Amino acid sequence: MTRSEDALETATSDASLARSKARSAEIDLAIDQDPSRFRILTGDRPTGHLHLGHYFGTLRNRVLLQNRGVETWVLVADYQVITDRDGVGPIRERVLGLVADYLAAGIDPERSTIFNHSGVPALNQLMLPFLSLVTESELHRNPTVKAELEATEGRAMTGLMLTYPVHQAADILFCKANIVPVGQDQLPHLEQARLIAQRFDKRYGRATPERPVFPRPEALLSEVPLLLGTDGQKMSKSRGNTIELRMSADQTAKILKKAKTDAERRITFDPEGRPEVSNLLMLASLATGEAPEAIADRIGDSGAGMLKNLVTESLNEMLAPLRERRAELIANEDYLLSILHAGNERANEQADQTLSEVRTAMQMVY
Ligand code: TRP
Repeated sequence: MTRSEDALETATSDASLARSKARSAEIDLAIDQDPSRFRILTGDRPTGHLHLGHYFGTLRNRVLLQNRGVETWVLVADYQVITDRDGVGPIRERVLGLVADYLAAGIDPERSTIFNHSGVPALNQLMLPFLSLVTESELHRNPTVKAELEATEGRAMTGLMLTYPVHQAADILFCKANIVPVGQDQLPHLEQARLIAQRFDKRYGRATPERPVFPRPEALLSEVPLLLGTDGQKMSKSRGNTIELRMSADQTAKILKKAKTDAERRITFDPEGRPEVSNLLMLASLATGEAPEAIADRIGDSGAGMLKNLVTESLNEMLAPLRERRAELIANEDYLLSILHAGNERANEQADQTLSEVRTAMQMVY
């Protein structure tokens, strides 16, 4: 095994996690000093509608980073939908729904670029030279690919699933993003993207000695609260235990009314011992900014009913302006399409430019 192949394995070790955390803190400070040094790429698969897990986990953070002045690129990863399913589903509705979610949450199309895979051919073409820079065994060892394979419950793994970390590297590298806000589980992907950038420049860099074609993208780890679904299980659309951003206040109340709690009347914040109650406290805390322990104290002996009312009210209050904007946006399909088309135009310019640099480095210019 070569040293560079080793690197992918170490991406998940404790020491390397500590390093990634320390580096994220440095990046965070550097953003305050000079946000113009950074470009962010993030994205979502249009496989469903965004829910509170997405909102508190990533979406809110993206908007904050954008507002701190970092150039932000947001990818609607439509080609990634077919990594693990037989069809695209109601793709058009979902893609436009994502665009509406982004805009409603505060992504500003003047400052940020919202685009989609299938609208940017040159991005996808980068996958071809990139595939030559990774080995099959390296892909099989990728922890995220392994986890995804387990989640497909015995279904055969497609070639696209196996190689999707390479496609994600193309997502990141085509626009020369140097930071990617991620959760811990995504660290191996970033390591893979860095390896591809490094190997490309090592193999073809001689044609362009003055500077590398690609930056080495780094993770910006965010402290993401581990949110559970309203049944205390992993949050997932198929379990019907999520609150989607697009839901009405009444739908939200209904789901929370059915939320699982426990038999103890007194409300306390104890994520280990009382995961369901603590999860509801966490939701209220995220919505209001008040500490979960303080909310628990305030409810005290008033019980789970009171807790549910409080969570419902605080979430609905926080989401009301977003939902209002979203409803207006979703009624205006032409506008949503114009935003996506404008984003794709910008992304195509960038992707064509990068592909041209790649072909020049590879001496494939005739
Ligand atoms: N895999 C991400 C998700 O499931 C979406 C995504 C595609 C992405 N390409 C990316 C995220 C590149 C970060 C960087 O939502």
